[in-house]
Amino acid sequence: MRVAVIGCGFIGRRHAEAIRQSPYAELVATCDIDITRAEAIAGASARAYADYVALLQKEKPDVVTIATPDHLHVEPTLQALRAGCHVFCEKPLAMTLEEARLMAGTAAECGRFLAVDYNRRFSFGYGKAHQLVLEGRIGDVTHAMFRVTDGIPPFVKGRGAYAFLFSMLTHHIDLVRWFCGEIVSVYALQSRPDEEGKFLDTALSFEFASGAIGSIVGGWREGQTRTIEALEVGGTQGAVLIEDVQKRVRLHGLSPDSVEEFQPDYFWGIQTEFYHSLDTHVLSFLERTHKGEPPLVSGWDGVRGLEIVAGAIESHRLGCRVRL
Ligand SMILES: NC(=O)c1ccc[n+]([C@@H]2O[C@H](COP(=O)([O-])OP(=O)(O)OC[C@H]3O[C@@H](n4cnc5c(N)ncnc54)[C@H](O)[C@@H]3O)[C@@H](O)[C@H]2O)c1
Repeated sequence: MRVAVIGCGFIGRRHAEAIRQSPYAELVATCDIDITRAEAIAGASARAYADYVALLQKEKPDVVTIATPDHLHVEPTLQALRAGCHVFCEKPLAMTLEEARLMAGTAAECGRFLAVDYNRRFSFGYGKAHQLVLEGRIGDVTHAMFRVTDGIPPFVKGRGAYAFLFSMLTHHIDLVRWFCGEIVSVYALQSRPDEEGKFLDTALSFEFASGAIGSIVGGWREGQTRTIEALEVGGTQGAVLIEDVQKRVRLHGLSPDSVEEFQPDYFWGIQTEFYHSLDTHVLSFLERTHKGEPPLVSGWDGVRGLEIVAGAIESHRLGCRVRL
């Protein structure tokens, strides 16, 4: 498949590296409004563009990956879908629910695949823990509890009071859905507005369709250089704990001595890097698209994430729990 990358910053570079590893794909073009960035990633084997419309017209790629800043995913995705491309889009799909629904709806109308990059599902830690839960090792899931601390990405400046929900917690909302099933209500608290009114700390409480409950508490810190996060998923037969995405997974049974520990393969090292999960997701998308199989994390998962974000914002504004 002929593949192009739109947006060649930090993450676009990573998309390109993953595409180059795929036996099903050839990186044919890159695009960035800063042409030097597109050229740096294109190398000798792909063509660089400053305008994605020109890229779509001239290259006619089969697949496009989108790694522009959060508020600039919609137009390139819609144009690429309408040009007949399958699209792998960075999270969040969009900054409004209406736009996200339009994106997923357009993919369906055009008969193309749309994936959203909730790459944490492809990390060692969350992947292993999810497998243990599916195997019934903790019984029926009863609760989930997340804590998250991260630095503030520069592109969220001016992106509104709830940028932390859109840009960061969308990953963690997706994960609690993945572990616990559909979210049916949300209650949100926000604190510490910065000088532009952006809330830096958030506490979310959820109720799931199964009757399970959950929470995410997190915040952005100026100068924090990497994410620190941990998830505990509890069940009727035990609990599973994931530290730092993939550092360690602990499975606790009912008795104090029934503890199993799982770690990524430090000998070969590959799984220990956070962005390996992103590479794995891109590779999975390319392979499944080549085989005509829908993506594991679809545009509709991106839409649902934004429905929950919208519910959280409404909850904060109204000061009460919101049913979804
Ligand atoms: N999945 C993850 O773990 C993860 C991690 C970090 C960032 N992201 C997401 O990836 C996206 C990109 O983040 P980043 O850190 O690479 O940002 P970045 O600022 O490093 O890169 C964005 C690039 O897009 C380019 N760009 C802007 N407008 C464009 C346009 N109209 N056409 C073509 N190029 C354009 C910019 O010039 C820049 O080079 C964001 O949506 C972000 O939330 C995802």
